[in-house]
Amino acid sequence: MPDRFDLPVGFRWGAATAAYQIEGAVEEDGRGPSVWDTFCERPGAVRDGHSGTVACDHYHRYGEDIELMKGLGLDGYRFSVAWPRVVPAGAGAVNPAGTAFYDRLVDALLEAGIAPLPTLFHWDLPQGLEDAGGWLNRDTAYRFADYAAVVADRLGDRVPAWITLNEPFVHTVFGYALGTHAPGRTMMFEALPAAHHQLLGHGLAATVLHDRGLEVMLSNNLTPVEPATPSPADAEAAAAYDTLHNRLFTDPVLLGRYPDLSALGVPEDIYGAVRPGDLDLIHAPGLDGLGVNYYNPTRVAAPTTPGLLPFDLVDIPDAPHTAFGWPVVPEALTRLLLHLRDVYGPALPPVTITENGCSVTEPTTPDQPRIDFMASHLDALAQAVAEGVDVRGYYTWSLLDNFEWAQGFNQRFGLIHVDFATQRRTPRASYAWYRDLIAAHKARHAK
Ligand code: FCB
Repeated sequence: MPDRFDLPVGFRWGAATAAYQIEGAVEEDGRGPSVWDTFCERPGAVRDGHSGTVACDHYHRYGEDIELMKGLGLDGYRFSVAWPRVVPAGAGAVNPAGTAFYDRLVDALLEAGIAPLPTLFHWDLPQGLEDAGGWLNRDTAYRFADYAAVVADRLGDRVPAWITLNEPFVHTVFGYALGTHAPGRTMMFEALPAAHHQLLGHGLAATVLHDRGLEVMLSNNLTPVEPATPSPADAEAAAAYDTLHNRLFTDPVLLGRYPDLSALGVPEDIYGAVRPGDLDLIHAPGLDGLGVNYYNPTRVAAPTTPGLLPFDLVDIPDAPHTAFGWPVVPEALTRLLLHLRDVYGPALPPVTITENGCSVTEPTTPDQPRIDFMASHLDALAQAVAEGVDVRGYYTWSLLDNFEWAQGFNQRFGLIHVDFATQRRTPRASYAWYRDLIAAHKARHAK
């Protein structure tokens, strides 16, 4: 069984964050409001009434945070650019103070020897665009491409690789179908035009980036789906869920077509959102790398209440669970990577794990569960690499504790503890463990 030290030479070690979860400074230097600012004001929307107004104050403390990254020996840092900081209304005027912030961030990262890997959209849509329909409005895809051009023109001389979208599945389902994330709409399957428009935005932005000689990735939240029992009904339900969670967001980009959505009761043209030529716009630019965000597998059973959803999600009781209640099944990461290779074959570009990590309850437990989580997942990754999957890097979620969306500050995912009252950063045992792992991997390959 290969272990984490068997990962290839040049394998990129990283950590990930996202703008709204760490930056704070939401009203500073001309930043416009985002859907998350609005959503956090809605009573009961976020646990304990928390918001990202201050978050980790990274906007002011990025220098200290980069020092901590340097201490880890990171090769790469994945962060997101806040669209409302750069184009406050979502379309039109550019905010020079916004682009200047990312300029400083990128320069400081390069100075520290860390490759910046920016994501253009990690869920903080400018409120102005939401007021015009958000991702349900096709026009948002074109505004996204305009914004991509602004950022790429500013940073593309120093940043060769980009991620367009983060987890369009989660944004569509939590944000538009169920309403547990911003913008808080509860449209169930009628939310799916928001998925198509995000993918269209990805394709248009990919062309903008490629035209400038830059590399493009898309980060999808992918989950291996397993039927609860071998019964045909459970297998059918599992296939429907796999279509919704995984294939809907990956097939159009890698294969140029949507999977068959009939099991979900969704029309082929996704309620009229898919226009002739759209799949070419999404597929033709190609993808230089697939970003995989992996947290857990999903067990699926046939629905107990027919007519609502074509599946039920059930727990995996035999697995340990994180503080969030997510099952910990590292070997499912091996399965997921082999499955991607089998399903997409030569259409699968090199993979980068752009998120993987766990929240740990504090202060009652030490940090060992996080170390065990990372070690076991890196072993599972090495196994997939040994079996021939081309995986180029691993970005742990997250560098530091942050605003965990609807959970507020109640889920601690960081290698670095943050005291949100004082903004004091304290590296955890997992920080030292990851630092030593990176150093040992490099030393081994230097021999
Ligand atoms: C992912 C999100 C990321 C973070 C982790 C825990 O779905 O992309 O922002 O919240 O989950």
